Amino acid sequence: MEKVKNIGILTSGGDAPGMNNAIRAIVKAAIKKGIQPYFIYEGFKGMVEGDICKANSLMVSGIANKGGTILGSSRLPEFKEIEVRETAIKQLKKFKIDAVIVIGGDGSFMGALKLTEMGIPCIGIPGTIDNDIVSSDYTIGFDTALNAIVQAIDVVKDTARSHQRCIVIEVMGRFCGDLTIFSSLAAGVEVISTPEKKLKKVDIIEAISKARGEKKRDIIVVVTEKLYDINKLTQLIEKQTKIETRPLILGNLQRGGNPSARDRILATQMGIKAIELLLEGKKGVTIGEINGKLTIVDILNLPKMKKSDRKKEIFNVELTT
Ligand code: ADP
Ligand code: F6P
Repeated sequence: MEKVKNIGILTSGGDAPGMNNAIRAIVKAAIKKGIQPYFIYEGFKGMVEGDICKANSLMVSGIANKGGTILGSSRLPEFKEIEVRETAIKQLKKFKIDAVIVIGGDGSFMGALKLTEMGIPCIGIPGTIDNDIVSSDYTIGFDTALNAIVQAIDVVKDTARSHQRCIVIEVMGRFCGDLTIFSSLAAGVEVISTPEKKLKKVDIIEAISKARGEKKRDIIVVVTEKLYDINKLTQLIEKQTKIETRPLILGNLQRGGNPSARDRILATQMGIKAIELLLEGKKGVTIGEINGKLTIVDILNLPKMKKSDRKKEIFNVELTT
């Protein structure tokens, strides 16, 4: 395979703190190796529309501490259609881009896989707060979001304790309970419900009553999004337990802010690795971190992979009431 000369970089799906560090590392590593980086704005949308420009070191200066993504992100369901991807490839050809680094979640990786199959070698970097990518113990953005959630739980505990209230907190994660379980274990809460271990409403109410029976003043329930209607759940808890209860949907507060040191380092390592892989002629692979080491997995194998034992272990920790 001929040496890669021009690469495109894009961020896609939900943004995640640390994406900028990956972009920065890719641009710097590429230039060092004589590769010309190009920015593709707004994910696959920018690829289709030709919203692409040459990148240089100055453009990634001063972004290491910034959340979000300087490239912008989007969701473009139409990218599943071959005709739309053909238009995207025509745009890439105009700029002579011969490989693309896709920073995003598993949906974005499917787009990357399909582009690879159509002759544009892609490398995936896991960037999502959800930590729902099986090929990596940690995704870029997870640690920052986790710390934001822990901080939020700490804050509401104060007021819950003063008023002897129950607070039901809804955390993001799509269909993955990692943010819920990690934050709950770090903050110390009374009830946890995740897609992996979903509690029945009756069990949530029983656990709350038990905690109050043990004279706990503040009772914190943390649940992953999409499992319950949080407002209805709150009303039900209040009615059945007679404990004043408030709902709190953390929402987009979890997805921004300065990236943590951990996310910055992970993103930087993965960005550098992506350039090395392209120089080795690798394509259609995604970078991960398993047991503290950078790893690569064929994107094609992702749907068949299961969560690592290390990731599963955390769900077996019993610290609740
Ligand atoms: P994430 O990458 O965070 O999982 P999404 O699932 O929303 O986010 O996917 C981001 C984008 O990736 C989608 O809007 C679409 O443009 C592209 N994409 C997702 N699935 C596919 C697919 N099967 N084929 C082609 N492109 C896809
Ligand atoms: O994938 C990241 C994420 O924040 C998920 O946790 C959540 O389900 C989704 O994106 C929310 O999407 P948005 O607010 O961007 O529509």
